[in-house]
Amino acid sequence: MAASTTQEPVKTQQKCVAIFALLCCFAVLLVLIFSSVDIWWDDEDGITEENCSRNCRIMLVENVPEDLYLPVEFRGHLSLSVGIRTLLNQAKQSVEVVSPVWNLKAQDVENVPSRDKEGRLLFQQLLSLKSRGVKLKIASSLTNSAELKTLAADSAEVHFVNMTALTRGRLQSSFMVVDRRHFYMGSADMDWRSFSKRKELGVLVYNCSCLALDLHRVFSFYWQLHDRDYIPSIWSKRVSALYGRHEALELQLNTTSATAYVSTSPDVFCPKDRTRDIEAIHQVIQSAQSFVFISVTDYLPLVNRSFRGTTVTRYWSLIDDVIREAVVLRRVRVRLLVSFWTKTHPLTFNFLTSLKSLCLYLHNCSLEVKFFRLREQKSGVQLGLNHNKYIVTDSAFYIGSHDWVGSDFALNAGVGLVVMMRNSLADGGATILEQMKGAFQRDWTSHYAKSLLGSKEEQRKSRNWKQEDVL
Ligand SMILES: *[C@@H]1O[C@H](CO)[C@@H](O)[C@H](O)[C@H]1NC(C)=O
Ligand SMILES: *[C@@H]1O[C@H](CO)[C@@H](O)[C@H](O)[C@H]1NC(C)=O
Ligand SMILES: *[C@@H]1O[C@H](CO)[C@@H](O)[C@H](O)[C@H]1NC(C)=O
Ligand SMILES: *[C@@H]1O[C@H](CO)[C@@H](O)[C@H](O)[C@H]1NC(C)=O
Ligand SMILES: *[C@@H]1O[C@H](CO)[C@@H](O)[C@H](O)[C@H]1NC(C)=O
Ligand SMILES: *[C@@H]1O[C@H](CO)[C@@H](O)[C@H](O)[C@H]1NC(C)=O
Repeated sequence: MAASTTQEPVKTQQKCVAIFALLCCFAVLLVLIFSSVDIWWDDEDGITEENCSRNCRIMLVENVPEDLYLPVEFRGHLSLSVGIRTLLNQAKQSVEVVSPVWNLKAQDVENVPSRDKEGRLLFQQLLSLKSRGVKLKIASSLTNSAELKTLAADSAEVHFVNMTALTRGRLQSSFMVVDRRHFYMGSADMDWRSFSKRKELGVLVYNCSCLALDLHRVFSFYWQLHDRDYIPSIWSKRVSALYGRHEALELQLNTTSATAYVSTSPDVFCPKDRTRDIEAIHQVIQSAQSFVFISVTDYLPLVNRSFRGTTVTRYWSLIDDVIREAVVLRRVRVRLLVSFWTKTHPLTFNFLTSLKSLCLYLHNCSLEVKFFRLREQKSGVQLGLNHNKYIVTDSAFYIGSHDWVGSDFALNAGVGLVVMMRNSLADGGATILEQMKGAFQRDWTSHYAKSLLGSKEEQRKSRNWKQEDVL
């Protein structure tokens, strides 16, 4: 009797311990799962997909260096520095910035007296956000930037994304989200050169919380990679895409109806439903009816892959393919404006010549290539580099962070914006497209744009031309 009464409590005690242990395991498991899935969320300011704004304003912003003699009428676009300054002045709560470079104050000012004036002003403006009660958040893959250290010491929250560990690439995206309502996207970095001596093109989008919210999610994606050395296999819902290739956001851009979405790269940086940059580029080129104008700094369809410790270089056809198809099978007119500068890879000429030769003996086939080139100054400073990265067609545009180099798409984190107009250029009313096309035509017809030399003899000349430049 006595034995059984003492045994009963012992048994229940054991049961309790077992259940408790199980519960503990379960709790630990839950914590583990959620810590890899979710970041501890700040809310999205009460703006949701249901009540966000799609009645947006869009402006083209450009930086055209003073040394470039381009027709005056096209300088009428809002200048990049004024545009960014106005955007930051709108901020009431938060500013989120991603940039591959933080170099707003020139280190080598002797070479370029006061050319970093705009960069310095922007840096001051970022520092002054705190006094207005605006939170500044920065995601970056830079480990040793003096400017980021200054900003972090002052007020900015900086999250480090170890791209070396994640993809062996760089964080190449460049954008700015203000109050999750307005944003900037374009070729300019947080680099003083972007505001003085480099040619840049981008867009400012105002009162557009739907699209800004999606871009904010791209930012959140980087944000939660802070100090991680692996990419989680399960993602929080808060970083998945709101819109994409198959489900684009329908919106108003000024007075025009359009659809839009944000794309990203590389593949491992694309959570569920996020369209990849390369798919976005395909869609924009494939949807063109009459023309595709492309302006990029570098064009090199090669990709470096690491294989058993050695680097193997392979042909990367993903963009070449879709251009060839558009030119030959759909007879879409293609113009490619590539920069000619000290870092132009010699094979660029071969790949572009090959593309061009596609139209030999074909009627209505048009693929033209030109190099945008400026003589360097005696000081060796590269002036007027065309740093643009966009495509404009008769019905859509794409602005991205990558040059058209295979390795960039494979390794570097980038972001792109696709806007497709309901009415094409031909139907009128597509103002932003007209402006972008105008900017392209201005560059294309300027005397800085030189045709790709065709014959062997001329190609040889172009090699010399290049060597001369490098030396
Ligand atoms: C949007 O909806 C959410 C929840 O449905 C609500 O909390 C928020 O206040 C709304 N925001 C606006 C600007 O109406
Ligand atoms: C980034 O990751 C690499 C590889 O895992 C590591 O060697 C490096 O120390 C990390 N960098 C920082 C700043 O943590
Ligand atoms: C955005 O909306 C606000 C309020 O509706 C308005 O005051 C402001 O002028 C708009 N901004 C632009 C650039 O249209
Ligand atoms: C591939 O790697 C080689 C050497 O590591 C380098 O010279 C070349 O520029 C790289 N190519 C690309 C496309 O990144
Ligand atoms: C080629 O151009 C001519 C006149 O420019 C046009 O009539 C014809 O339809 C075009 N053919 C194709 C296949 O686009
Ligand atoms: C859109 O509207 C804004 C402000 O109303 C204006 O500044 C901008 O130039 C317009 N954009 C286009 C492409 O017409």
